[in-house]
Amino acid sequence: MHVENLTLAYGADAPVVSGLTLEVPAGRLTAVVGPNGSGKSTLLRGMSRLLTPQSGQVLLDGTDIHKLPARELARKLGVLPQGPVTPEGITAAELVSRGRHPHRGLFGRLTAEDDAVIDEALAAVELTELRERPVDQLSGGQRQRVWIAMVLAQGTQHLLLDEPTTYLDLAHAVDVMNVVHAAAATGRTVVAVLHDLTLAAQYADHLVVMGEGRIAAEGRPVDVLTEELLDDVFGLQATVVEVSGAPVVVPDRRLAG
Ligand SMILES: Nc1ncnc2c1ncn2[C@@H]1O[C@H](COP(=O)(O)OP(=O)(O)OP(=O)(O)O)[C@@H](O)[C@H]1O
Ligand SMILES: [Mg+2]
Repeated sequence: MHVENLTLAYGADAPVVSGLTLEVPAGRLTAVVGPNGSGKSTLLRGMSRLLTPQSGQVLLDGTDIHKLPARELARKLGVLPQGPVTPEGITAAELVSRGRHPHRGLFGRLTAEDDAVIDEALAAVELTELRERPVDQLSGGQRQRVWIAMVLAQGTQHLLLDEPTTYLDLAHAVDVMNVVHAAAATGRTVVAVLHDLTLAAQYADHLVVMGEGRIAAEGRPVDVLTEELLDDVFGLQATVVEVSGAPVVVPDRRLAG
């Protein structure tokens, strides 16, 4: 994916993302980090056609995403928005099966292959046992994993995930990052917005730091995630140490009084 000079705004408001250019490394995991309100979700919306750019373009395999028919785009690009709304009464397996919609004909039934993909996606997030449970009766973390399974089941070459590990305990966050990393290891291109800087640095091949609608820095996590950058972009006083080649962020304590 290539993002060229993208400017994104909501209605008549001032642009939230201005003139952003980004080459997303193919077949790699790119993590996008940045403070609340820095434009991460807006960027992902612009990259997935949920938001029409004021100017600039997003190229997918060389084609402007706005020139692709919706169905064709859905076969190439899977999107997990931040805080997706679960349809009422739907079971985990039913929600995951929706990921197969772009692959089916009009009124098409699920094929044996679809069923296998759905089973595999549920197993990848360890929800096989809960597959018949209504999603609104799952815990926040379980629900989040159902959504991830849904996007995985879509079987797209490109994935955009907005905070896939929010609501997850650290062990399940690591499980999800393993699944996401495995997707990239099999050649899929993944962009994930993450808040946990240490987790992002452990898994990302490429790290993009957003600040106020622009890219403040990008590159290998170990080169990008410095104490100076954390102070500049996040206003965070922290110590960065290196563990097995990846930076670990330890915030400095600020005690009241
Ligand atoms: N639907 C909307 N209409 C108007 N303004 C919006 C809308 N969505 C987001 N914004 C504004 O755009 C800016 C960037 O929001 P965005 O959701 O992209 O941030 P973010 O980096 O994803 O933050 P977070 O880490 O909190 O998810 C914010 O100032 C926000 O108020
Ligand atoms: Mg967001």
